[in-house]
Amino acid sequence: MNQPIMKGVAAINAPAHVKHQKLINWVAEMAALTKPDTIYWCDGSQEEYDRLCAQMVAAGTMKKLNEAKRPNSYLACSDPTDVARVEDRTYICSEKKEDAGPTNNWMAPAEMRATLNPLFDGCMQGRTMYVVPFSMGPLGSPIAHIGVELSDSPYVAVNMRIMTRMGKAVFDVLGSDGDFVPCVHTVGAPLAAGQQDVAWPCNATKYIVHYPETREIWSFGSGYGGNALLGKKCFALRIASTMGRDQGWLAEHMLILGVESPAVNGQPGKKHYVAAAFPSACGKTNFAMLIPAIKGWKVTTIGDDIAWIKPGQDGRLYAINPEAGYFGVAPGTNTATNSNCMASLTANTIFTNVALTDDGDVWWEGMTKEAPAHLIDWQGKDWTPAIAKETGAKAAHPNARFTVAATQNPVIDAAWDDPAGVPISAFIFGGRRSTTVPLVTEARNWVEGVYMAATMGSETTAAAAGQQGVVRRDPFAMLPFMGYNMSDYFQHWLDMGKKIAAAGAKQPAIFCVNWFRTDENGKFVWPGFGDNMRVLKWMLDRIEGNANGVENVFGITPTFGDLNWDGLQFTQEQFNTITSIDKAAWEAELKLHTELFEKLAYHLPAELEATRVALEKRLAA
Ligand code: GTP
Ligand code: SPV
Ligand code: MN
Repeated sequence: MNQPIMKGVAAINAPAHVKHQKLINWVAEMAALTKPDTIYWCDGSQEEYDRLCAQMVAAGTMKKLNEAKRPNSYLACSDPTDVARVEDRTYICSEKKEDAGPTNNWMAPAEMRATLNPLFDGCMQGRTMYVVPFSMGPLGSPIAHIGVELSDSPYVAVNMRIMTRMGKAVFDVLGSDGDFVPCVHTVGAPLAAGQQDVAWPCNATKYIVHYPETREIWSFGSGYGGNALLGKKCFALRIASTMGRDQGWLAEHMLILGVESPAVNGQPGKKHYVAAAFPSACGKTNFAMLIPAIKGWKVTTIGDDIAWIKPGQDGRLYAINPEAGYFGVAPGTNTATNSNCMASLTANTIFTNVALTDDGDVWWEGMTKEAPAHLIDWQGKDWTPAIAKETGAKAAHPNARFTVAATQNPVIDAAWDDPAGVPISAFIFGGRRSTTVPLVTEARNWVEGVYMAATMGSETTAAAAGQQGVVRRDPFAMLPFMGYNMSDYFQHWLDMGKKIAAAGAKQPAIFCVNWFRTDENGKFVWPGFGDNMRVLKWMLDRIEGNANGVENVFGITPTFGDLNWDGLQFTQEQFNTITSIDKAAWEAELKLHTELFEKLAYHLPAELEATRVALEKRLAA
């Protein structure tokens, strides 16, 4: 093999089954820059997973949980400064600033490379570089794409094994000249000879960098979630969105679920697939695994966070879940609100930043009504309900997460792994809004739906570093995940709609939802979770032409009588508080739409501005 031999550089050690010389050369080049002690090529086996976990237990990065209570499961606790995605450190480095657009941080590629090179020089010293080959989407599927992540974090390697199709078979698909997206990740904490490591190495300086034109990802300084598991937000959304723009498909921050109506008179129910975009920590995982509150309905999961959507032969849109696991929010998850999710987590799970119980199990806020009498919190400190009351200390970090294989989901859809994807009947967009936005609205047409998605606002959550509970525009729930200019993305959506119509297919219906309106005491009025089935049922009935609604200035909404209330005490008054449209609030809201459109003026589709003007007029009338 043609390997460069350099002094002080780790042996490349490429296994014989790796036939891709360009890949080997790239690994060698990155090793020469980052200078790891050793290079390890992941095979994705269970043996390897167990070994790396045991190694992290010995290093203090993870704790093995009580085998009797939570078999083959671990708890990792991060550095308190490294707990969520860092949006202000995330860059789209296209050649032209306009191509990144006004919603992204931008730096010219050459300037960014000059910035990163000194940081990456020697950044893996004293550590192992893991070569992590992965497929986003079923291995070998025409819709799937391959990435290779180089990381000095074994935590990343084991999480990638759950979250993606990771391992040796990827090299077989790659062959000697297959395409892959190169992803370089470092925690940015080189070790000098003899220096003792810490449990969660990271660096105060962070860079999450994307080069959309050359399809490369470089990540420095964080070991957490989307900052470090580069197949997820970095590849499957930011890089893939630019691939989708160029190739005529969509990469979206969406769950995908199957929903089947009850059988009637021996006739089987009708099944639809819907995709829904809610911003981070706004309910995708929960909606994807929903246990219907209405008898006879069935919901099954295709994916919980990301959808790749391509037009099929028949002109309809087909979606796949490019991931193989869930990296889900732990706090708030319990058997009452989501027993499917709890059932997924009984074994083979990595928990990050939750609390440890005295018997070696896990706990988080909202898991049980009553907290255990004593815990070790996510920062390793003693925690009791009394301490919490006094100091407000959380046992689990609000962005604490579980990593679990999709196959552990008891309601996984039979087609979740189908390389052809599933046909999408409806898109749902939803934000977290304590005021203003009604429970559900149906767009009257594709353009109105795109407008709703484009102008969506949501209160910020703990999924990203920074202030929480602040309303910001989060178009398509993609604000932190867009790989190119937001206005060009709106245009791409409008074009996709036209293509569906031109192919003679029915465009998916578009709905806007809000589960999060609160009362005067700040409490959620809508029960949410399984009761969201009532809204979902109305949507499907609308698609089938079996449900009524009323037109208002924005679109079509159900009246109280249009929803199914079986088994729920919910009054007309309560319904009014979450569906009322306050004129003054909407005038203020429209100002924010205007502000957004002013910011996005470059390439903003004229149809969207026209929709805004029409809406303004209707509201004033
Ligand atoms: P990311 O993984 O960050 O993309 O989040 P997500 O969109 O998958 O959100 P998830 O389903 O994990 O929910 C986030 C938080 O919202 C959790 O604490 C849930 O318990 C809570 N939540 C989810 N659905 C509902 C709902 O219908 N009503 C209410 N009130 N809370 C919900
Ligand atoms: C999100 O923030 O939308 C997530 C978690 O799904 S992370 O993978 O960290 O981006
Ligand atoms: Mn997400």
